[in-house]
Amino acid sequence: MHDDLETLTRLLEREGFVAAGEEADELLACAAGDAQRLDALVTRRRTGEPLAWITGSVTFCGVEVVVTPGVYVPRWQTELLAQRAVQRLPAGGTAIDLCTGTGALAKVLMTARPGARVVATDVDARAVACASANGVEAFCGDLLAPLPRELEGAVDLVAGVVPYVPTPELGLLQRDTFTFESSLSYDGGADGTAILRRVLRDGPRFLRRGGALLLELGGEEADALAGDLARLGYRDVTVLVDEDGDVRGLEATFAAPG
Ligand SMILES: C[S@@+](CC[C@H](N)C(=O)[O-])C[C@H]1O[C@@H](n2cnc3c(N)ncnc32)[C@H](O)[C@@H]1O
Repeated sequence: MHDDLETLTRLLEREGFVAAGEEADELLACAAGDAQRLDALVTRRRTGEPLAWITGSVTFCGVEVVVTPGVYVPRWQTELLAQRAVQRLPAGGTAIDLCTGTGALAKVLMTARPGARVVATDVDARAVACASANGVEAFCGDLLAPLPRELEGAVDLVAGVVPYVPTPELGLLQRDTFTFESSLSYDGGADGTAILRRVLRDGPRFLRRGGALLLELGGEEADALAGDLARLGYRDVTVLVDEDGDVRGLEATFAAPG
């Protein structure tokens, strides 16, 4: 039996779970004293299934987000981008969250800017259903394609965590990743920038002049995009770097080409 915090923590530690104490705590809370249920939850976790799929939620930027099985779990690494997104969205403004997954980024924006309109898209119907369960106005389809035409030229912020892992590097992701998650969430094409480039190209259809573009990316991808950004009319390009010096995203302002 592992129905107390200490025993369950030790079990998870032995299995190599880094945050064993926190995970044990969450699993016990989710089981709410039902020993059989706890057993089932722990069995699922020991297979490597994401904790949030088991407990049904995660906290992102201090906001509780519903997570349903099959949908990408928001990562803490995205919080810096989300905080910048809040800064770039005016109180009564309009934002688009591309590739929304659970709708986490959109929900943070809606929480911080209750007077704003926030819409989101994802190509995976399970993600759209999850984002809707989080109260997000979510549309199913490719990038900006399913969005209402009335938003064209009127949007203050286009933000997104689009797939940006170079295809040859997918195999380097954690072993558990593709046991449970789909490469659809990660695969950014040969050099990782295929979808990022499509967002840069299509963003100006929706962004107003002075509107912000915020995209998660990694490594040298911002450098690879410099030419596209300049040609398409993005200015004041900044690379977002976290406290450890890791690249977390790209921020730019749309000023129109020329
Ligand atoms: C890395 S996950 C990010 C999810 C969420 N933004 C987050 O940070 O938690 C990428 C998401 O992009 C979606 N996606 C992949 N290709 C897409 C496309 N062409 N158009 C819209 N969504 C797409 C996937 O279904 C997945 O939910």
